[in-house]
Amino acid sequence: MDVFQQIDELLQEISNAQIGDAAQLEDFRIKFLGSKNIIKPLFGEIKNVANERKKEFGQAVNALKQAAEAKFNGEKDRLEQQVENASMADMDLSLPPINGYKGSRHPISIVMNRIVSIFERIGFTVAEEREIEDDWHNFTAMNTPDDHPARDMQDTFYLKDSVQRLLRTHTSSVQSRLMTKTQPPIRIIAPGRVYRNETISARSHCQFHQVEGLFIDEKVSFADMKQTLLYFAREMYGPKTDIRLRPSYFPFTEPSAEMDVHWGLEDENAYRITKGTGWLEILGCGMVDPNVLENCEIDPDKYSGYAFGMGIERQAMLLYRINDIRLLFENDARFLRQFHSMF
Ligand code: DAH
Repeated sequence: MDVFQQIDELLQEISNAQIGDAAQLEDFRIKFLGSKNIIKPLFGEIKNVANERKKEFGQAVNALKQAAEAKFNGEKDRLEQQVENASMADMDLSLPPINGYKGSRHPISIVMNRIVSIFERIGFTVAEEREIEDDWHNFTAMNTPDDHPARDMQDTFYLKDSVQRLLRTHTSSVQSRLMTKTQPPIRIIAPGRVYRNETISARSHCQFHQVEGLFIDEKVSFADMKQTLLYFAREMYGPKTDIRLRPSYFPFTEPSAEMDVHWGLEDENAYRITKGTGWLEILGCGMVDPNVLENCEIDPDKYSGYAFGMGIERQAMLLYRINDIRLLFENDARFLRQFHSMF
């Protein structure tokens, strides 16, 4: 048969091909586009074509190949659309999920809700503020001026804008936000996301969560803080939990302390996470520095208060024995499915 006639017949065949399902589409693909397709050998026929028709022949074979590709792509799209339409039509969104899995709260939410509810029971209310902050609320108002060495303790993400906003490095910024717009008494708990420019590893991440607490009123004392934190530790870690306060330094509190809970040394794991001491640090706290009150236009002669801040990831990792912080941000369903809770 003349090669030109052969091309015409194949063109006919392509345009008449009836493709009704994925199997027929695959047959078509193998025949016309697969590695041993029927068009390929035609390219070799060029040597048998008269010189003056070689160009015409080349164009015809290329057109044939393109026709096969166009047909394949068109039919593929059409079939896919068909499948999609059919599955949408068959879908009943009011049905319960097949395996009864209803999802579960994220461990961070579970721990955060638990901490918040412990403080709500003793009269704290939840305050939420912005994650994009300005330098003043995050640092300066919190007694951490520009040249303060404590700024190096927190590597900051700055926004590239004219007013130098930043992603808050701690929920302590909620303190200055609230104190500039409310006069005491203030008794709040502020859960939220914070950001630091840290290398991501098993132990640290560039985003994490904190809960901040703030109580300002007349005659608030260090003893009030201690008792409140002891109550918290016992609600959170069990009624017999002991705490200890170690002197520490934060720019926004004076005096400052870090609080440890007694974890014991009952097994090898306890040794490891407490570094052999039996104690675990869970939060920073202290009496609000009079400079902070003054910066926020609260009279330090009339009012005093305490503040505390704690990381949530660390507590979630302790409670659920999670050994890599990254698991908390990857949203792998196999990990998340393990958390069921009433909170
Ligand atoms: N903002 C501190 C941090 O991120 C934690 C903290 C310490 C908060 C002492 C406080 C506090 O309110 O009083 O490391």
